[in-house]
Amino acid sequence: MCGIVGYIGEQQAAPVLLDGLAKLEYRGYDSAGIAVYNGHEIEMVKSVGRLKVLSELTHDGTTLVGKSGIGHTRWATHGSPSNDNAHPHYNKDGSIVVVHNGIIENYMKIRKMLQNKGYEFNSDTDTEVVAHLLDYYYTGSPLSTIIKVLQRIEGSYALGIMFKEFPEQVFAVRKDSPLIVGHTKDGNILASDVPAVLKYTRSVYFIENYEIVCLEKDKMTFYNIDEDELEKEPTTIEWDVAAAEKGGYEHYMLKEMYEQPKAVKDTIYPSDSRIVDGRVVIKELSMSDEDIKNIKKIYIVACGSAYHAGVTGKYVIEGLTRIPVEVDLASEFRYRSPIYEDNSIVIIISQSGETADSLAALRDAREHGVRVLGIVNVVGSSIAREADSVMYTWAGPEIAVATTKAYSAQLIALYLLGMNFAQVRNTITEDKMSSLIKDLAKLPDQIEMLLASKEKVQRFANRYIAAQNVFFIGRGIDYAISLEASLKLKEISYIHSEAYAAGELKHGTISLIEEGTLVSAVLTQEHLYKKTISNMVEVRSRGAFVLAVTTEGNTEVEKAADYVIYIPQTNEYFTNSLAIIPLQLFGYYVAVGKGCDVDKPRNLAKSVTVE
Ligand code: AGP
Repeated sequence: MCGIVGYIGEQQAAPVLLDGLAKLEYRGYDSAGIAVYNGHEIEMVKSVGRLKVLSELTHDGTTLVGKSGIGHTRWATHGSPSNDNAHPHYNKDGSIVVVHNGIIENYMKIRKMLQNKGYEFNSDTDTEVVAHLLDYYYTGSPLSTIIKVLQRIEGSYALGIMFKEFPEQVFAVRKDSPLIVGHTKDGNILASDVPAVLKYTRSVYFIENYEIVCLEKDKMTFYNIDEDELEKEPTTIEWDVAAAEKGGYEHYMLKEMYEQPKAVKDTIYPSDSRIVDGRVVIKELSMSDEDIKNIKKIYIVACGSAYHAGVTGKYVIEGLTRIPVEVDLASEFRYRSPIYEDNSIVIIISQSGETADSLAALRDAREHGVRVLGIVNVVGSSIAREADSVMYTWAGPEIAVATTKAYSAQLIALYLLGMNFAQVRNTITEDKMSSLIKDLAKLPDQIEMLLASKEKVQRFANRYIAAQNVFFIGRGIDYAISLEASLKLKEISYIHSEAYAAGELKHGTISLIEEGTLVSAVLTQEHLYKKTISNMVEVRSRGAFVLAVTTEGNTEVEKAADYVIYIPQTNEYFTNSLAIIPLQLFGYYVAVGKGCDVDKPRNLAKSVTVE
């Protein structure tokens, strides 16, 4: 997903832009570019490939002289990765330059209109229409020109804009794509996300939809679409640069796997602890006991791993509260005209808080008057700000594209929610609640212990570097964790993998099992052990090699598995938090063994802010 940066101040702009783009690399990209006002024109350099290429072309930015500029990392949506398609884009005489994150959905219509008026295009991108439209509507006032363009374009955007005639100013505006701005010690900076500015400031302004900001070297001014000046309050970012760095690990993903005990602990006991005197207290819910007692249905809506956490959440919340829970993929939910029952709530789960499909689902629910709770990791993100209430997962910045610690923290948030609702609705006894709280408190240490046995998993993973197909099976909550284990493997190792409800295999897919096919079976639900063991026997008798992940003491599994990994005892609802650890490590070590780019897998982005 693209990233934008901008700077104006006393420093040379190019090195600041390159540094900011480097901090946005995690978002995934295939080309990059920067533009700097050099005193008489806006000079631009673009390149395909990694930022290293752009740095080499500009000798780490030193060949581009000037104190104001904008930059971009492009994740191709319209048009292949190429110099022409890389941003920044500019109007015909280079007097207006633009960088953009998002999609201009009506760009073809605008492109045709402009071409009929004699405009020529150098790229296949949607973004280039913005540069020419700014030229077409140019009134001599950057602000009113920008506003005219906003009234014409549809879709999502975070735009950085420079006008040669106004070299003392850099403009930015957003709709649906994230945008922040902040003061540095000698200027002002804009970016798509916090890591790009943390080196300069931890006091940032989150820009809302249709807000326009004008950055000058010693001030910034906010406007609404009527050109009225706005007052905005900054947000202080608590986590530090080190937290967003690799800290000596080979990959961000490994570092973040090892941060899971802390992420889990911080989500159970944030500064405002969610366990108080033996009870679960979630102040940020802003729901009265009456509200909770009246809930008739819960919809959990998310994408990818967040969706998988939601599947676990369904089993846990239904099991503890008997409230019906429906889990939906956000990209499906928003287009199926969902039928909202009275007294229902929608839970949107999102690490980034910027996923376009999840944000759209949130807006659909709110348009229908349904209360929305966000379970979000990035403070101040769009989903966090637009939900009625937000329950943060305190996992800290997650840089690796493949989520681990944020996913684990999402599970914890869902456990706490289920426990809180069960407590209010009296669907579990005091004894059950205290036993759940005890087991919850043990999870960080148990995760730590599982991480310590990584060598065992690494040795096993090395056998499967050449695997073509891997299956992950389980029943009930063990199916939920199989979904996540499968995604972890395929998104970073590029090995095809499928998660299957163990009981469903025999209805067709078992035909794919061949000699040596790896099948991972998760067995943590005692009442389902025997059923899953019979499924293991089924695949093993057809040649599969069976890996079992099961709870300590369940040794009967050994008769049906070729390799067994044991996880510690915990409450049946919490087992996903433990079973996922060896399965994350498995995916990681297979990918490392294959020499894949573990932190930035091909074709993927950390946050998918486009449809
Ligand atoms: C998970 O490893 C992937 N990065 C992806 O499935 C991700 O979970 C999904 O895109 C949702 O992202 P979000 O949590 O930021 O909304």
